[in-house]
Amino acid sequence: MNSTRRLVLSALATSMLLVACGKKEEAPAPAAQPAPAANAPAAVKTYKVGSDASYAPFESETADKKVVGFDVDVLTAAGEKAGFKVEFINTPWEGIFNTLGTGDRDIVASAVTITDERKQTMDFSEPYFEAKQLIAVPEASKVSKADDLKDKKVGVQTGTTGDEVVQKILGKTSPNIKRFESTPLAIKELQNGGVDAVVADNGVVINFVANNPDAKLKIVEDAGFAKEYYGYAVKKGNTEVANKVSEGIKAIKADGTYDKIFAKYFGAKK
Ligand code: ARG
Repeated sequence: MNSTRRLVLSALATSMLLVACGKKEEAPAPAAQPAPAANAPAAVKTYKVGSDASYAPFESETADKKVVGFDVDVLTAAGEKAGFKVEFINTPWEGIFNTLGTGDRDIVASAVTITDERKQTMDFSEPYFEAKQLIAVPEASKVSKADDLKDKKVGVQTGTTGDEVVQKILGKTSPNIKRFESTPLAIKELQNGGVDAVVADNGVVINFVANNPDAKLKIVEDAGFAKEYYGYAVKKGNTEVANKVSEGIKAIKADGTYDKIFAKYFGAKK
């Protein structure tokens, strides 16, 4: 190749390169994306939350009518992660799930066990707590297992999983199942001798017996009682709220916040 030809070729190459570059520059640069609105948050929603606040330590009411407890702390912390706020409203257990349908409440946070039956009429968040039923009886009682309740009067909170468990032992229509509006009312009746036992969630029974030594009650466990899992309930089909709550629960489980709340109420996890 002679030098002239080399020159021509290299000039050609250079001009092609320039053309290429020029072309590139001519192409309109894609409009710069606005920076993700990191500090311009989407409007934070406040959800109305219904709780039957007679279920310490999960939900109870302070003297100045504030709903407090484990369920409150967990849902509030979940909201901080997932970007929602919560307003707790003390709501009677009876009819509490109807408030989802009517839109009076967005969430029911009430130590609600996720059951297949309930799943037909409402949706749930991720489970956030494992529970089971326990039997509370007077210290002198001979009851030592679930089966011993067969010929006894047993107090339950109407429509709870405790009610269901006792129906299985005594029979659905047994007149010996004494139903109460709230668990504290059932326990009061136990102290008065009107019922022989109360069946309710472990956390609540343990909490009551520990804080009321004068009631002279003891706890009876039965290995036959199934594990239960609490979830926050929403209106059937309200996946937006259910997903947000679940997202928040996952986040507080991942970063240790959940464990701190758990330890505050139940001591460190085994
Ligand atoms: N976990 C039981 C259930 O879902 C009892 C819940 C009762 N909760 C309450 N806040 N009273 O049936």
